[in-house]
Amino acid sequence: MIYLLKQLEYSIQKIISSSFHQQKAVELRTRYQENKNHKGLYDTYLMSRMPATYAAISRVLSDLPLDSNIKTVLDIGSGPGTGLWAVLAHFKALESYTGLEGDRQFIELAKVLSEELKTLEINWKQGVYPKELPDMSADLVLMSYTLGENSQETLEKTLESVWKHNVSEWLVVVEPGTPKGFNTILQTRAYITTKGGYIYTPCKGNYNCPLSEKDWCHFSVRLARSSFQKKVKGATLPYEDEKFSYLVARKSPVRFDEGDARIIKKPVVRSGHITLDLCNESGYQRMTVSKSQKDIYQKAKKSEWGDDWERDK
Ligand SMILES: C[S@@+](CC[C@H](N)C(=O)[O-])C[C@H]1O[C@@H](n2cnc3c(N)ncnc32)[C@H](O)[C@@H]1O
Repeated sequence: MIYLLKQLEYSIQKIISSSFHQQKAVELRTRYQENKNHKGLYDTYLMSRMPATYAAISRVLSDLPLDSNIKTVLDIGSGPGTGLWAVLAHFKALESYTGLEGDRQFIELAKVLSEELKTLEINWKQGVYPKELPDMSADLVLMSYTLGENSQETLEKTLESVWKHNVSEWLVVVEPGTPKGFNTILQTRAYITTKGGYIYTPCKGNYNCPLSEKDWCHFSVRLARSSFQKKVKGATLPYEDEKFSYLVARKSPVRFDEGDARIIKKPVVRSGHITLDLCNESGYQRMTVSKSQKDIYQKAKKSEWGDDWERDK
């Protein structure tokens, strides 16, 4: 379960007026489903999407090694600055954060939300990518829920420029956990591997994705809803689940142990056995672990969708 940083939750509450209507959250969701954007629904984004995208980014960043020593971050399509908060929760050595965002109102919100963060160099730049990508390289470049909002041409030009000029080590791309979001991830993956980059997660190497065209690789993260969120959303459940697709790539070589795999679907627990959907360079395979396989069964019981599956450990 992921919890929103208290400081961010408090800042959002200050901005959200009592005029927040549940109807607006539905309208925003419909807009995204129709491939339209958030224009005019900024408060709604803060309340109904930012906590969820925060949770997805946070979950993805937890894949990176604790000692990755990330000091500089460039967040492209930064919106209200969601990524900053997730990065802050993970990388204590962070020194500077740059957000590039096309929408002035989101830039203003990002500034208001982060105004209390004095110990960090934060730059919110208004600009449209790929044309106005900053001339800088960063230890980590983040693109969350943004790349797929663009045309094919913009996507290709952006990836080319970002990988060449902006990424010094890590690239993190997060997209909605839909067939369209996964397609954006697949294209990113194909570009990175042809340019000599290394896939770090969720795949266990640079092999061709073995999923069939009808399937899409996505994961789920559970976010705790605060009482304020529950109140304004009229929700009763104390949590919500966000589905996402993602890719973490790096410039330095990545080594995987033979046979290690990723659990790419929710494990199915039946009486006497558990079924796991595993993916690695040998392809996509469904593995059934029976109760009689004592240790391995215990390991499968504790495993969750998205976890690593390490062979023989
Ligand atoms: C769904 S929001 C995601 C915001 C934030 N990254 C998050 O995860 O919450 C997508 C953002 O990308 C921005 N965006 C999309 N295409 C862009 C482009 N070509 N140049 C600059 N910003 C762009 C939009 O204005 C919007 O703020």
